[in-house]
Amino acid sequence: MKIDKNVENDGVIFMSIKENDERAQETGSEGDVTILAIESSCDETAAAVVRNGREVLSNIISSQIALHTIYGGVVPEIASRKHVEKINGCIRAALDDAGVTLDDIDAVAVTYGPGLVGALLVGVSAAKAISFAKNKPLIGVHHIEGHISANFIENKDLEPPFVCLVVSGGHSHLVVVKDYGEYDIIGQTRDDAAGEAFDKVARAIGLGYPGGPKIDKAAREGNPDAFVFPQAKIEGAEYDFSFSGLKSAVLNLINQAKMQGQELSQADIAASFQKAVVEVLAGHAIRACKEYGMNKLAIAGGVASNTALRELLEKECAANNIEFYRPSPVLCTDNAAMIGAAAYYEYRKGVRFGLDMNAVPNLPLGDRERRFHGRASRLDALERDFGGRR
Ligand code: KG4
Ligand code: ZN
Repeated sequence: MKIDKNVENDGVIFMSIKENDERAQETGSEGDVTILAIESSCDETAAAVVRNGREVLSNIISSQIALHTIYGGVVPEIASRKHVEKINGCIRAALDDAGVTLDDIDAVAVTYGPGLVGALLVGVSAAKAISFAKNKPLIGVHHIEGHISANFIENKDLEPPFVCLVVSGGHSHLVVVKDYGEYDIIGQTRDDAAGEAFDKVARAIGLGYPGGPKIDKAAREGNPDAFVFPQAKIEGAEYDFSFSGLKSAVLNLINQAKMQGQELSQADIAASFQKAVVEVLAGHAIRACKEYGMNKLAIAGGVASNTALRELLEKECAANNIEFYRPSPVLCTDNAAMIGAAAYYEYRKGVRFGLDMNAVPNLPLGDRERRFHGRASRLDALERDFGGRR
C-alpha cells in the first residue's frame, strides 16, 4: 500500500493512500459499484472511493493527531471544527485521486455512529448534501462494521463466517461475523476499551498521546516479564474483557515506586502492560474460534495495528490451524476505505437511507431496527424534507 504523507502547517497530517496505482487507473466496467465514502467519527477526516467493496481507488486521511497531542487527548470541539475545515478538501482529493467525478459514483456512504456527535455530524451533513445535490443513494455505516470490513480490502478471498476481534479506542468486541452485515457479539468490554487502556497507561507513564503507538514502540526496548500485571477473567462471561483492574495495577505500581523514591523503566512497564493486554485479547479470540468451530480469525480497529498482538496471533493461529487475517496498519486505524467496503454490501442488499439520517453517537453494533430506521425511500424523504421539490 503506497502512502504519500504531507504535513500541513496546522499540524494536521494529510495522507493519500492507494491500494494499487495501476488498478486505480483502470476504468470501471458495466455493473461495477463505485462508492464515495466519508468518515469523521473522531479525529480523522477521511474520504475514499471504493469499487465493488474491495478495490480502493483512493483513500485520503487528514489526521488531527498532531493537533490534539498538546492537550493529551482528543478535544471534541476542536475535532469538529477541524472536520469542517478539511472535509471538502478530502472529498475533492479522494475523487481526483480516483480519477472520478460525483457523476461517476453510484452511492455516497458515511459513518453515522458511534463516535463524537459533533464530529459525526460533519461527515453526515456532507454526505447528505452530495446525495441531495447529485441524486445519489445514501448509505449510513456503523463505524465498527467499517473496521471489520477493512479485512475485505486486502483479502479478496475472505468471506463470512469468521470470528473478528475488534479493538479500537472506544470498543473491544469479540464478534462472530455470520454474514455481510450480520453479527453476533459474543464478548465485549465491561469497562475501558483496549485502546483506551493503552492511552491511559501511556499518559500515566509519561509517554503521552496517542498512547497505543507510543507503548508499542517503547515496549520493543522493554522486558515484558519485568512486572506481572493481572489479566481479568469474568465469571460467567468468558469472552468479555475488563481492563480497568490492569490500568489500576499499573498506576499503583507507579505510585508505590514514587513513594519509595524508586525509578522504574518506562519501557519495562510498557512491555509488561502490553503483554497482559495482548495475551487476554489473543486468548479470548483463539478460544472463540475453537468453540464456535471457525477456522478464520480477523482483527480490526486501531489496536489491531499493535505489533505484539499481530505477532502473538500469527503464532497462535498457525499453531491452531486458523487462517489469520489482519489489515495493513493504515487500514486498522480510522479511514474511509473501510466505510466504502462495508457500504457496498449494504448497497447490494438494497439498504438506502433517507435524508432524515442523523448522527447516532452511541449506535449499537448490529442493531437492525436502527439500521433500517432511515430506510425510507429517497423520494419519500425528499418529499417530507423539501416538499417534493425535486
Ligand atoms: O480505530 P481507531 O483509530 O479509532 C477508534 O475508532 O477508536 O483506534 C484508536 C485507538 C487508540 O486508542 C490508539 O491508542 C490505539 O487505537 N492504537 C494502538 C496502536 N495504534 C493505535 N494501540 C496499540 N498499539 C498500536 N500500535
Ligand atoms: Zn475507529
